Amino acid sequence: MKTFRAYRTEEINGEFVNSIKNIDKSTLESDEVIIKVAYSGINYKDYLSSIGNKGITRNYPHTPGVDVSGCVVSDKTNTFNVGDEVVVMGNDLGMNHDGGFAEYISVPSAWVLAKVGRFTLQETMQIGTSGFTAALGIKKMLQSGLKPSDGAIVVSGATGGVGVWGVQMLSKLGFEVWAMTGKAEAATMLEALGAKRVLGRDEVLAPLEKPLLRPKWAGALDTVGGVTLASLLKQTSKSGSVATCGNVGGMDLPITVLPFILNGINLLGINAADTPMEIRKEVWALLGEIAEPSKVAGFCNEISLEQVDDALSQMGKSGHIGRFTIKVE
Ligand SMILES: NC(=O)c1ccc[n+]([C@@H]2O[C@H](COP(=O)([O-])OP(=O)(O)OC[C@H]3O[C@@H](n4cnc5c(N)ncnc54)[C@H](OP(=O)(O)O)[C@@H]3O)[C@@H](O)[C@H]2O)c1
Repeated sequence: MKTFRAYRTEEINGEFVNSIKNIDKSTLESDEVIIKVAYSGINYKDYLSSIGNKGITRNYPHTPGVDVSGCVVSDKTNTFNVGDEVVVMGNDLGMNHDGGFAEYISVPSAWVLAKVGRFTLQETMQIGTSGFTAALGIKKMLQSGLKPSDGAIVVSGATGGVGVWGVQMLSKLGFEVWAMTGKAEAATMLEALGAKRVLGRDEVLAPLEKPLLRPKWAGALDTVGGVTLASLLKQTSKSGSVATCGNVGGMDLPITVLPFILNGINLLGINAADTPMEIRKEVWALLGEIAEPSKVAGFCNEISLEQVDDALSQMGKSGHIGRFTIKVE
């Protein structure tokens, strides 16, 4: 076969149109490592890329998909052997480099990481950028000195891709996890994942005019940003740590300096895509210890390339629960 299938976003007369196309395999030759994609995962960035967000993807036509697990077909650098099971996530994959919503990708060798042996290719994508981001946040929280005896940890956007992994892994480490969600109907699932309490969004939000409030938790893994992040910081106990990765609830941070200069709160920024390879390996080692795909499986929806349109649309409305993985092969 001279072509392979890919979910492409095209810019046609100013509109962004998505469809499955046949792409010439010769286009794969331009890069170092060719990988047969087994699974990809859908992240919020992919939704943005698919609707033409130029902050994510400058040029179209383009194949979204920031996450891939699969097998090496060829490697010009001889770093990997044919058939090696590998993972590629972040860097520029799916942003300004054709991504994983396709049967094949070709990428620089420096982006490719051997898969952690304990996980299958499917589980690796159930984790994907979501689990990786949660683990990177947890790693930073642990490095800041946070420990289970300090108190509860809030995970916001708890039914989202990052959130479900945050709840599972923090619980595994012995933290008392409070899951904040806008979906009350998901409470039982979140408790089964390890959450000790499920909080409605209103239970976390603090009045804008109050610079500080009574401390309620020792830290947070925040995926929402905006007033949610500000509220979490204002109610974190002295020397606590809040890791922040997302902005689904807003880009602004309406807050004073008081939580930082009076309570010594650590605000830990997370950028998964640009994580250096050395740290990537450490984060995957941590995932190897604490990620439990069997527990999170109920939050993972496996779909085909044909179902990507519907999944992206659900993600755009935040109507989904957990993570979408695409079985490509
Ligand atoms: N910095 C990084 O390296 C990095 C890496 C991965 C993801 N991210 C970002 O992290 C965020 C979460 O990613 P994800 O993959 O978990 O996304 P997701 O699957 O879409 O989950 C986001 C969750 O946030 C909650 N939410 C949505 N809109 C909200 C609002 N207006 N106010 C409060 N909560 C809201 C919802 O959960 P509930 O219904 O349970 O509240 C939703 O399921 C995104 O902004 C994403 O771009 C950043």
